[in-house]
Amino acid sequence: MSIFIDTAYILSALLFGLGLKLLSSPATARRGNLLSALGMFIAVVVTLLNQQIIDFKFIAVGILVGAIIGVLAARLVAMTAMPEMVALLNGFGGIASLLVGWAEYNANTEPTNFLAVTIFLTVLIGGVTFTGSIMAWAKLKEIWIGNFGISKALVFPGQQVFNSLLLAAIVASGVLFVADIGPGYTVFYVAIGLAFVLGIMAVIPIGGADMPVVISLLNSYSGMAACAAGFVIQNNILIVAGSLVGASGIILTNIMCKAMNRSLGNVLFSGFGSVVTAGKSGEQGEAQPISVEDTYYLLEAASSVAFVPGYGLAVAQAQHAVKELAVLLENNGCEVRFAIHPVAGRMPGHMNVLLAEADVPYDQLVEPEDVNPIMETVDVCVVVGANDVVNPSARDDETSSIYGMPIIEVDRAKTVIVMKRSMAAGFAGIQNPLFFLDNTRMLFGDAKASMQGLVSEFKRD
Ligand code: TAP
Repeated sequence: MSIFIDTAYILSALLFGLGLKLLSSPATARRGNLLSALGMFIAVVVTLLNQQIIDFKFIAVGILVGAIIGVLAARLVAMTAMPEMVALLNGFGGIASLLVGWAEYNANTEPTNFLAVTIFLTVLIGGVTFTGSIMAWAKLKEIWIGNFGISKALVFPGQQVFNSLLLAAIVASGVLFVADIGPGYTVFYVAIGLAFVLGIMAVIPIGGADMPVVISLLNSYSGMAACAAGFVIQNNILIVAGSLVGASGIILTNIMCKAMNRSLGNVLFSGFGSVVTAGKSGEQGEAQPISVEDTYYLLEAASSVAFVPGYGLAVAQAQHAVKELAVLLENNGCEVRFAIHPVAGRMPGHMNVLLAEADVPYDQLVEPEDVNPIMETVDVCVVVGANDVVNPSARDDETSSIYGMPIIEVDRAKTVIVMKRSMAAGFAGIQNPLFFLDNTRMLFGDAKASMQGLVSEFKRD
């Protein structure tokens, strides 16, 4: 039996690894997801067969209820609300690990030192992940408490001192817990409480454009909590799965920090967005609006067009319309590219998912480092609901809060068409000088309606 279990776990681990590898390209990502899910299915079935299970009835009910909630959530959640859902799922992962640690402590009131350490780590990381993720969810949902928008970074005097004391208290509770000093469950409950507070304190000073980094960091924490829980219950595949999630989350965090040109320390502790720095946005000049008809004439004459999608593409659900326009442009002899910024939208790969849904060919997708060097040769850059990721202040204005974040340098194209509904700011809450440049025209309105208008003009021709 044990050989069978171990072989099945090794197969699961291989499927996880292969799945992750395939996830690295949009062309193979779907297959990667399926393989990883198959690996998890095998791991769950084999674990159920192997372990002394309390009662299969409870497990069956749990699977049924969980599956119904999961299917409904996956079907009903809007694509734009996906990051909030990921935040909640990370939180659930954290609390699940915490409960595993708690249950094991319950079953072993006099644990060995090794078990005590792993239980403490599981509860600590799980608790931090849980409240941190709920906080991240509230921030992404832009919940308001009175006059205060929770999505803003919250920094207050003495915050660092408070956090240091909190950390010291956590270390002390860990030592007491492992040394088994203190009556009954008191130290354990205190440790859980401190972990919950630490999760909140770790996320409140983070805001604005830094939220994607926090979500992937919390994803990594949820993996580490699961890994620690794997040590607690001595389950090899949980250790493997937890390590993979922990490692991939930290790698993604690193990639995102690079995409914003920030260090992780700066993201976590600088209180980005607590004060909105307008930069040198005082005198901007006047934006020049353009009609759908005039945009059509520009595009009709262009031999090279680059679409730059952003969060507004997701809001407008304009992906199918933009694909239709791209095909019409190609038929007109124009070279078409889609320039994708790594943090465009509200979640990693957001634009890739939307464009894949509309069957935009992968070879038309280009990254900032590939398109920026040839930007001067692009006749028309069409910015579809993007704002921060094309803001030249990030390159030119040292006083701007997004200074240093790599951007898609659309301002260097011959003509820029910006599709958005108003002059409103983007996620970082700052003005965009791009809108006032001589080579920029603003095509106001919902991006899908504007796209459909352009498609109609082409078809009428
Ligand atoms: P944003 O800077 O958020 O700008 C989106 C723009 O879309 C807004 O200015 C909005 O202007 C416009 N818009 C909204 N609905 C629209 C519609 N129906 N039709 C046309 N336009 C519409 O987006 P971005 O350039 O993609 O930048 C992403 C930002 O989010 C970055 O700051 C990034 O750091 C942050 N962020 C990213 C992620 C990830 S991982 N991608 C996660 C969280 C946060 P109007 O209101 O005037 O229409």
